[in-house]
Amino acid sequence: MASVTVPNTVEQPVVESAFFNDVVNGLGRPNKSLPCKYFYDERGSQLFDQICDLDEYYLTRTEQAIMDQYADQMAAQLGERAMLVEFGSGSSTKTHVLLENLIQPSAYVPLDISEEHLLKTASALRLKFPHIEVLPVVADFTRDFALPVPQIEASHAAVYFPGSTIGNFETAAAQELLKNIANLLGAEGGLLVGIDLKKDPAIIHAAYNDSRNVTDEFNLNILRRINQELDADFDIDAFEHSAVYDQDEGRVEISLVSRCEQTVNLAEHTFQFFSGEEIFTEYSHKYSVDEFARLATTAGFSLHKHWTDSENLFAVLHLVNESD
Ligand code: AVI
Repeated sequence: MASVTVPNTVEQPVVESAFFNDVVNGLGRPNKSLPCKYFYDERGSQLFDQICDLDEYYLTRTEQAIMDQYADQMAAQLGERAMLVEFGSGSSTKTHVLLENLIQPSAYVPLDISEEHLLKTASALRLKFPHIEVLPVVADFTRDFALPVPQIEASHAAVYFPGSTIGNFETAAAQELLKNIANLLGAEGGLLVGIDLKKDPAIIHAAYNDSRNVTDEFNLNILRRINQELDADFDIDAFEHSAVYDQDEGRVEISLVSRCEQTVNLAEHTFQFFSGEEIFTEYSHKYSVDEFARLATTAGFSLHKHWTDSENLFAVLHLVNESD
């Protein structure tokens, strides 16, 4: 039986891995698809960091600017002695300014799937914020996980979910995730979430079709990863990146398009592609503040305050769980 070495040096037989099953199921569908969470191996994470620095990708710098300008107000909204839980914390870049402003926080809980990255970030944060207890949790936030118990009792929990990552969830999945966050927070718990706003489609198109083709590489990297980790034989050059903004749906639809008729092998599976056939890889939803607030209402949240930039490109919303 073939095997791969997954990060963290755990030997897993290929055929038993969730990655293998998700790829085989996704490519076996009439409308082929791959889950976007598999973009982020080491190279994929580096490519995403490069995307965040692109001129065309306004999201990261705009959100950071909003955080820099309004972190004091956000911290005041989150309240005293909160335990701040960050979903998908990565390098926690946007969190620094929030941590600087939080009022007597009980603890900071960065939560991420990548253990190595998480522990490195946690060590750096402990040095920078010695007065804040940093309690990293290795977890997939779409699944159940337990919150740690901080030394200083928290008056409440608050979730920080930046980066418009919630935009990568389909509507039903976003509702489900918001419900899980509401349950985690309990009544009166606060959620600070970054969302990308609806705007001139040309601006959105450029952000996902950059002139240096970094997004192309990021998207195609999922096929490289499948070749490397699952021993498939994708011809990477025989696929091309596609990102189309559907204004009616309010989302960018990202896929990999087969340039020709071809066959791809993966273990005992064979996948046929016709020329022009797509493998759907990601949605990136764009919202208005009102639309997102309405979506969050279905999970029991109500919008208390929001902050945006002068061009209305991006917004950070403070929502409070008002269900019992
Ligand atoms: C992580 N996420 C918010 C990015 C986005 O903009 O939807 C992922 C991405 N896909 C292509 N470029 C960036």
